[in-house]
Amino acid sequence: MQIRDKVILITGASEGIGAACAQVLRERGALLSLTARSEDKLRLAAGADGLLTAGDITAPETRERVVARTLERYGRIDVLINNAGAGLYTPSWNSDPAHVRAMFELNVFAPIELTRLVVQSMRRRGSGMIVNVGSIAGKVTLPWLTLYSATKYAVGSLTDGLRMELKRDGIHAMTVCPGYVETRFQSNLIAGRIPPGVADSRMFAISARRCAEDIASGIERRARTVMTPRVGWLLVAAARLFPALLESRFESIHARGQSPRGAAEGAP
Ligand SMILES: NC(=O)c1ccc[n+]([C@@H]2O[C@H](COP(=O)([O-])OP(=O)(O)OC[C@H]3O[C@@H](n4cnc5c(N)ncnc54)[C@H](OP(=O)(O)O)[C@@H]3O)[C@@H](O)[C@H]2O)c1
Repeated sequence: MQIRDKVILITGASEGIGAACAQVLRERGALLSLTARSEDKLRLAAGADGLLTAGDITAPETRERVVARTLERYGRIDVLINNAGAGLYTPSWNSDPAHVRAMFELNVFAPIELTRLVVQSMRRRGSGMIVNVGSIAGKVTLPWLTLYSATKYAVGSLTDGLRMELKRDGIHAMTVCPGYVETRFQSNLIAGRIPPGVADSRMFAISARRCAEDIASGIERRARTVMTPRVGWLLVAAARLFPALLESRFESIHARGQSPRGAAEGAP
């Protein structure tokens, strides 16, 4: 898909990967509609011409408002990028249920509901693209991020299903699987913190700009999956070929970041 003059709606566009996508796509001639909660940061990302709608994307009113305003301003939405998301570094068996629900609302339910809202008009026009930002954690389960991985696996299979459901309507769906991207993701967590063994191994980290360029190229060639950086496919292959080996490696990294057994539950 050619990006020039396409109307692109991006969630989580106030910073990180979303803001970088806004910049890269604007440079390639897209017409932008951006949303996130921080209005000031959104204003910077939107530039002079972009439409901005501030609000919490987990709220139905925000989703309806951003779609309505985009259609009112531009008359169509060519590409929806479901990018807003956050992580949770607490054990799956010991996480605050409110945190778990908040993460699923943001990472899974918001993209499903926003897609429902934009697909109607895309189907009428017989074209469009849904881009869902998943993660490499949606291809390989990371034990320090088990529940986050579960949300990103959900995003991946949702996107695969959408692509098949909507192919005959002319609508494409693409999953983005970033590895480690230099953003404030690690400080904007819902809860928990990155274990030391993981924080130390950022050798394949890429900039948000580089990730956004890979997303833009993926849109242009109507990719099914964008792995960014591409070296992430090696990890995916290793997990398929040698699952026990990878699991044992991840388990030991995870164990290094844990408190002694029972400490979290207050055991003697
Ligand atoms: N960074 C990485 O290493 C990495 C790796 C794999 C996948 N990802 C995925 O990439 C996506 C973007 O991550 P990032 O690294 O750019 O994170 P980030 O820098 O923390 O940015 C997250 C964006 O989401 C927005 N957001 C968060 N909660 C929101 C809410 N309730 N309503 C509306 N907007 C909300 C934030 O804006 P406001 O705070 O202004 O609302 C911000 O614009 C996420 O889906 C993440 O899971 C990131």
